[in-house]
Amino acid sequence: MSEPVPYLDLRAQLKPMRAELDAAIARTLDNCSFCLGPDVAQFEKDFAAFCGAQHALGFNSGTSALHVAMLLLGVGPGDEVITTPYTFIATSWAISYCGAKPVYVDIDDGTFNLDTKLIERAITPRTKAVMPVHLYGQPFDVDAVAAICKKNKLPFVGDAAQAHGAKYKGKPVGALGDISCFSFYPAKNLGACGEGGALVTNSAAFAARAKSLREHGSTVRYHHDEVGYNYRLEGIQGAVLGVKLKHLEKWTQERRRVAARYAELLADAPLQLPAVTAGNESAWHLYTVRHPRRDELKKHLDANGIGNAVHYPMPLHLQKVYAPLGYQPGDFPVAEKASREVLSLPMFPELTEVQIRRVVAVVKAFFNQ
Ligand SMILES: Cc1ncc(COP(=O)(O)O)c(C=O)c1O
Repeated sequence: MSEPVPYLDLRAQLKPMRAELDAAIARTLDNCSFCLGPDVAQFEKDFAAFCGAQHALGFNSGTSALHVAMLLLGVGPGDEVITTPYTFIATSWAISYCGAKPVYVDIDDGTFNLDTKLIERAITPRTKAVMPVHLYGQPFDVDAVAAICKKNKLPFVGDAAQAHGAKYKGKPVGALGDISCFSFYPAKNLGACGEGGALVTNSAAFAARAKSLREHGSTVRYHHDEVGYNYRLEGIQGAVLGVKLKHLEKWTQERRRVAARYAELLADAPLQLPAVTAGNESAWHLYTVRHPRRDELKKHLDANGIGNAVHYPMPLHLQKVYAPLGYQPGDFPVAEKASREVLSLPMFPELTEVQIRRVVAVVKAFFNQ
């Protein structure tokens, strides 16, 4: 059997930058700035600039950043937030943590992002915000969401956890909407050596309150203005992220190379390949194909040493935790069909031409057997 191809190869990413990372971590050990500190402050400046936004604040996870985004918008018990059922569950956690209710609308079959045509009919007097996701790294239709939100006087938050480096009509997604939130989970396009996240905004007022909320509701030590959290980004993660951010543009280009090769080589395979909307530059966090016989295809890839994953096998409205919301199978048929058909192929910047060809050969062998 040929060499297996991993789904993700973090070692390949870390190896060439190991000396830089060791030095950055050693600096943190030397200055003992373990919670926030100068490396986090520098990274926040650099990440804000990368996003073309005024403010970026480091958090201990993307989930915490999303939670604080909801608090900044005043989301509370009894409120509703319109969002997608087809994402990692943390998008909805942020709403639930505030005692509010996620209100789902179905997704677009081609992009897997929120179907913006369905948003308006989900708005009620209790709607407090809209929170779509730039899923798999592809921007959602920001202009359409912005127009609906403007008309209905609602703010919107972009869950950009998978979309570092993605652009919508030439603009980085982090600068769009009232707030954008990122995750630096190790497997993300920009990943910490541990947990991390960021809240990005152009609002000085939001940034100031977010800073306080992530640090026990306090701006002056041991004086607490409101219930806060310990959501600080660790100093070591700030140092690591500062090093890695310098490589992100190059990594994004490499992801585009991989996606372009898959698109070329799989063009004649009977698979639905990811659609990229005109005007979008995806960050290609994932390369997710579709086929009705997904489970068999998955087994075939597993048996032949090709890494793969299902994002996501069950939409959020059918999760046990959200049974009290009262949704039923069939409520969001596009998301439900996607969850039966999707399969993510290996996708990381260091993927070689030989590895790409191996993945493609194994996929094609499935259809020729
Ligand atoms: C779409 C989406 N939202 C939110 C999160 C939560 O981020 P974190 O794992 O950093 O809390 C993730 C990733 O895990 C994600 O993929």
